[in-house]
Amino acid sequence: MEKKLKTLQDKIAEAHLGGGQKRIDAQHKKGKLTARERLHFLLDDGSFEEIGMLVTHRSSDFGLENEKYLGDGVVTGYGKINGRLVYVYSQDFTVFGGSLSETHAEKICKVMDLAMQNGAPVIGLNDSGGARIQEGVVSLGGYADIFYRNTLASGVIPQISAVMGPCAGGAVYSPAITDFILMVENTSYMFVTGPNVVKTVTHEEVTSEELGGAITHASKSGVTHFASANGLECLQTIRAMLSYMPQNCEEEAPKMNYVSSNEKRKELNSIIPENPNQPYDIREVINHVIDENSFLEVHKLFAENIVVGFARIAGRSIGIVANQPAVLAGVLDINASTKAARFVRFCDSFNIPLLVFEDVPGFLPGTDQEWNAIITNGAKLLYAFCEATVPRVTVITRKAYGGAYDVMNSKHIGADMNYAWPSAEIAVMGPKGAAEIIFKNEIAASANPAEKLKEKEAEYQLTFANPYRAAERGFIDEVISPEDTRAKLIAAFEMLKNKAAKLPRKKHGNIPL
Ligand code: HXC
Repeated sequence: MEKKLKTLQDKIAEAHLGGGQKRIDAQHKKGKLTARERLHFLLDDGSFEEIGMLVTHRSSDFGLENEKYLGDGVVTGYGKINGRLVYVYSQDFTVFGGSLSETHAEKICKVMDLAMQNGAPVIGLNDSGGARIQEGVVSLGGYADIFYRNTLASGVIPQISAVMGPCAGGAVYSPAITDFILMVENTSYMFVTGPNVVKTVTHEEVTSEELGGAITHASKSGVTHFASANGLECLQTIRAMLSYMPQNCEEEAPKMNYVSSNEKRKELNSIIPENPNQPYDIREVINHVIDENSFLEVHKLFAENIVVGFARIAGRSIGIVANQPAVLAGVLDINASTKAARFVRFCDSFNIPLLVFEDVPGFLPGTDQEWNAIITNGAKLLYAFCEATVPRVTVITRKAYGGAYDVMNSKHIGADMNYAWPSAEIAVMGPKGAAEIIFKNEIAASANPAEKLKEKEAEYQLTFANPYRAAERGFIDEVISPEDTRAKLIAAFEMLKNKAAKLPRKKHGNIPL
């Protein structure tokens, strides 16, 4: 037995070395953690159970039969995060550059199947040169097997992808199908074709970082939801994110202990500026309303005119969608619409109630927006809200103009409780624009058009630039003092916690993609 035990120990040690010490050192030199180190920092201490440590590839082309590494470039298994089960795979760049072979893909598929059968999140730590070039089409097939599972698992279990090294070619599409992508500054990149191909085809000269680095995808394309400063921060963000999510679509997110105290927040009374055209930071409102330090902002650098993220209120997990008056006056444009729509879909898939803060002057006008389909993209947000059956609450802090009033979780599209602050202006458009259109002739005929416009603007303001017309109709359930917002929201979400809404029976809807 001793000899047999020794054989086992040797094999484990060999597997732990991956592609060998030299390549591990090279990985460290690039500022990257190894696949196993990443799992160590991601999971609760001592909770990792490995599956398939001794798997090797089956290829015999290009001399591969003489080059085998135990585990074949990916460490797979399960473990715990904050005491809750998760399935994981972590690609090992020291073995053939973490490239995906047939067996490597099979290992990933095995943990994905287990995750689906047992209803727990899957976390993929990607660090790979893409398809194992020596294996050809079987590797491509392996990717497709993963894409297929990603799609079937969507909306059933949370799927999180950390891209911690290269991710190129079609390989980017597995992360893209999952719920959230995290990237690491200066060590990870994602693109369909790299800088060399770009140069040949379009003659553009661009570095990997500029083309598909973390900051590029966090701010320009919106492909990644988080750009972390380093690998450790990335792994810690994953741990934090999971604390807001249930294990699967049949469960609720965990509720944290919360001891009720004075819920009045006087600071909220002085955030809205006297001048309705002056900006303020909606994060200030968010942070005074939610449980202290509970806001985890998602997609922070992308479409900053809308803010989305997870938070807690009285210990309960919620998803927040908020217009940001500090950027582009909080206008809704293509990027803001798609960013918010995707977040609303995630929250609704996983039973996370939605809280909306509204201060929106409307949709962004212009040829750029129209030609790039603000109609279709704005409709995504509308559709996402209309279809969401989780508890939905809106607080209108200031402007709720035009179509954006309807879209931003209005009562008419299924919101449960709609509050407005006394500073709310709920109208088809701002007073100046409205007066210019409806009193056009009167203003033109006046001896002093500027004075007349001012007078008519004030008239419109008095009639509509307030929350009371909407409250008379019941479109607003209550006009509240800002300082009472937190208490009102705690009560509303408690009241709505057993909400059971059903959509009409169908195969699936046809979201305007
Ligand atoms: C097999 C690979 C590999 C791959 C890297 N390696 N990529 N082996 N298949 N795809 C090996 C290298 O031979 C090397 O082996 C080790 O991994 C490290 O690679 P280096 O090039 O030394 O590392 P680095 O300089 O950091 O560059 C990393 C890299 C580069 C940028 C990822 O290796 C690269 O460009 N690789 C090819 C990428 C690619 O074109 N992949 C196919 C994409 S198409 P040794 O023995 O020296 O350690 C695709 C289709 C997917 O993926 C389709 C899905 C639908």
